[in-house]
Amino acid sequence: MAGAARFVIERFRELYGASPEPRVFLAPGRVNLIGEHTDYNLGFVMPVALDLACCTATAPAGDGRFRVFSENLGESRDWPAAGIASATPARDWGDYVLGVARELVRAGFDVPPRNLLLYSTVPVGSGLSSSAAIEVSTALALLEGRPMEPLELAKLCRRAENQFVGMPCGIMDQFISVFGRDHAAVKIDCRSLEHEVVPLPEGAEFVAVNTMVKHELGSSAYRERVAECAAAVEALARRLPHVSSLRDVSTQALAGFEGAMPPVVFRRARHVTGENERVQAFVAASRSGDLERMGRLLVESHNSLRHDYQVSCEELDFLVDTAVRLEGVYGARMTGGGFGGCAVLMIRPEKTVAVTQALSEAYETGFRLIPEFYPCRPSEGAREVAADSDGSFTAAEG
Ligand code: GLA
Repeated sequence: MAGAARFVIERFRELYGASPEPRVFLAPGRVNLIGEHTDYNLGFVMPVALDLACCTATAPAGDGRFRVFSENLGESRDWPAAGIASATPARDWGDYVLGVARELVRAGFDVPPRNLLLYSTVPVGSGLSSSAAIEVSTALALLEGRPMEPLELAKLCRRAENQFVGMPCGIMDQFISVFGRDHAAVKIDCRSLEHEVVPLPEGAEFVAVNTMVKHELGSSAYRERVAECAAAVEALARRLPHVSSLRDVSTQALAGFEGAMPPVVFRRARHVTGENERVQAFVAASRSGDLERMGRLLVESHNSLRHDYQVSCEELDFLVDTAVRLEGVYGARMTGGGFGGCAVLMIRPEKTVAVTQALSEAYETGFRLIPEFYPCRPSEGAREVAADSDGSFTAAEG
């Protein structure tokens, strides 16, 4: 990450001049190990923050504009700083930035004219949460050291995505980008918003593998799933008044209500209740070092997402099916929203090279695409990065 921070400072100076000096804020992407499509059902998730991140450099601007340049896209957007409160979305990448600025203004923070430069190492469209990384690093850049409770920061960024970008996502991505921990996964209770740091056992490595595809269906299907889960809750609440989300139901209890809702709605609900139970089991297996059980839970999660929740795709299924047949693979599953993006593999470390090679060859033969692999090195959450005396960059204090 140090390299990325140095790079954005250099680019910032070239683009906007060296004075005033920019400050740099970084927010990571994530891999979700288990607990998929449970966050907006107020259930459990267990992601890790990655050492892939969005770096945002910022300094005040003298011309009344709020301006942002994306180094990845080579494009810029700018708006009158005085008009942020009444800004409307343009349905492009600038919305992640402008949406966060608008939420900050709504929360009572002044967002004065400034220049921003964004550079992200989180691959876009990979299901590794590149948008939350933009949102959180932008929010920190616009706060520029003004304090905000970490949980408020995560919630504010989610509101920007829900209300400005128009994506009805849960809290997972923004939460882990803020609360990520070195060397550990984080189990999040998406109802209480409490979290638990779960150290990962020795003897296994997690690697994300990118299908390099992102099917168009993704965002409409996401909305559909959110609506189907709400329909399941409505049907259950008619008979069980204490049920206000799928979090309140066990798979066993749900089984008694199969006839109370359309079959497809029942299957969606069954995925969610089962997935919540799998997260709990995965945490227990992780704490006791039961690698085989962790691997089996990953595969069960994938099968449930594939058959009951129906958010997988041919490419993800191929990677998972091929991976689990290779020696040294404990388990694998799709990760993130689905319809493309990444799968996550749990591998015996000494087999990682052989597994990724074999998988790469098989995938290229099958799909004429070369998959990318990203080692999941659990990293700290969002923070400021500062230049130290020898020109390298380290995490700033506090
Ligand atoms: C996307 C959303 C998250 C979560 C996942 C599925 O990444 O942004 O909130 O719902 O899909 O688990």
